[in-house]
Amino acid sequence: NIQGVIFDLDGVLTDTAELHYQAWQKLADEEGIPFNRVANEALRGVSRRASLMLIIGNRRYSEEQIQEMMERKNRYYVELLKNMTCDDLLPGAIALLDELRQAGIKIAIGSASKNARTVIERLGIADKVDAIADGYSVKQPKPAPDLFLYAAKLLGTEPAQSVVVEDAAAGIEAALAAGMWAVGIGPVERVGAAHVVLPSLAGVKWADIRSQLHNSKK
Ligand code: BG6
Ligand code: MG
Repeated sequence: NIQGVIFDLDGVLTDTAELHYQAWQKLADEEGIPFNRVANEALRGVSRRASLMLIIGNRRYSEEQIQEMMERKNRYYVELLKNMTCDDLLPGAIALLDELRQAGIKIAIGSASKNARTVIERLGIADKVDAIADGYSVKQPKPAPDLFLYAAKLLGTEPAQSVVVEDAAAGIEAALAAGMWAVGIGPVERVGAAHVVLPSLAGVKWADIRSQLHNSKK
């Protein structure tokens, strides 16, 4: 019996991947490092530091330079967030949040981002969630289970009675490692390890997710 649902934010409720991409691209251009949209796909759900490491590859930078680049990228990203509104919610997101609330199911956000609270405010969904676990909540990033376990703790739900909705491979891995149910949003190549895979949240009813989880053979 499911008591709580933990939503990843970036790529599930809103498509910030494009904004993260623009901010990283600006930084990479300034540093003369080759980067493009294809390379950006590997950064989905990946922490800020790990993303920078993937971008710089084997180029050598001091810890100070790394810190400065992470801060610079974040300034660009935060600037882009200023244009975000509730129109940036992905189709089906609000309907599912409202339906879950109606059904008495607890809702958390489980995001790796240190900007999660800003994004939640800009999207206007702060009053639709019961708890927020973000980039400040735990030390070990996804695929470690820590963030989702922390979110379930905030909700007071057991991992086995919690569902994670995620668009990144690392997030699905984290959910499974936490002993939770996983719903993958996106292509099977990316989120195929989840118990249930959906192309998006558009038109998705809680009853559909519940029955698909019930029938999943994993
Ligand atoms: C994840 C995003 O939610 O948060 C990643 O999918 C991002 O792209 C990560 O790198 C960390 O976010 P931030 O805002 O703390 O740099
Ligand atoms: Mg995501």
